[in-house]
Amino acid sequence: MSPFEEIRNFLLVETPDSWVSAALTHRSELMIDHANCEKKAASNAMNLLYRYVDKRELLIKLTQLAREELLHFEQVLQLMDSAKVEYTHLSPGRYAAGLHKNIRTHEPSKLIDSLIVGAIVEARSCERFHKLAKKIAEPLSAFYKKLFSAEARHFQDYLHLANLYSEDDNEVPKRVAFFLELESELILQPDAQFRFLSGAPVGN
Ligand SMILES: [Fe+2]
Ligand SMILES: [Fe+2]
Repeated sequence: MSPFEEIRNFLLVETPDSWVSAALTHRSELMIDHANCEKKAASNAMNLLYRYVDKRELLIKLTQLAREELLHFEQVLQLMDSAKVEYTHLSPGRYAAGLHKNIRTHEPSKLIDSLIVGAIVEARSCERFHKLAKKIAEPLSAFYKKLFSAEARHFQDYLHLANLYSEDDNEVPKRVAFFLELESELILQPDAQFRFLSGAPVGN
């Protein structure tokens, strides 16, 4: 199975075509919010590095991941400069908060949920890069194709870590199913704001 097929099988729903169309007409927001997402991905990984100093494999994998996300951030900034897109403040969308607020607050459940949410965000980003790469003009198309394989790897890493640290065989599948259900609502329900991980556009 290709990495894309694996991600398509993992996610419950596909990004609506209306989101892809909106992305093509909201290029500045797309680029700015993408920059924010890369920065946030690095900082989420960094938070886990602070919280779980006793988990060796997590420290190694997420250090590599954080470095890669920061590199992506830098690359988005360069593309924004070439496209003359100014980096203005853009409020975060509902997606990440909608998932994060359902992370259990006690350990070790908090760790497992955080890793699962990490995997889902990577999977959805990957799916969106794949769709966008087919429609958007260069140089973004080539850039999104490149990011696609990195984010697919990040998805695998997060899922691997969740399975590694969970002490109960049923926990990861159960929590993955719970968060995917929630995620599909965030993707399909109408969303007034356009963002990299926003829902179905309203009136765009
Ligand atoms: Fe990234
Ligand atoms: Fe990533």
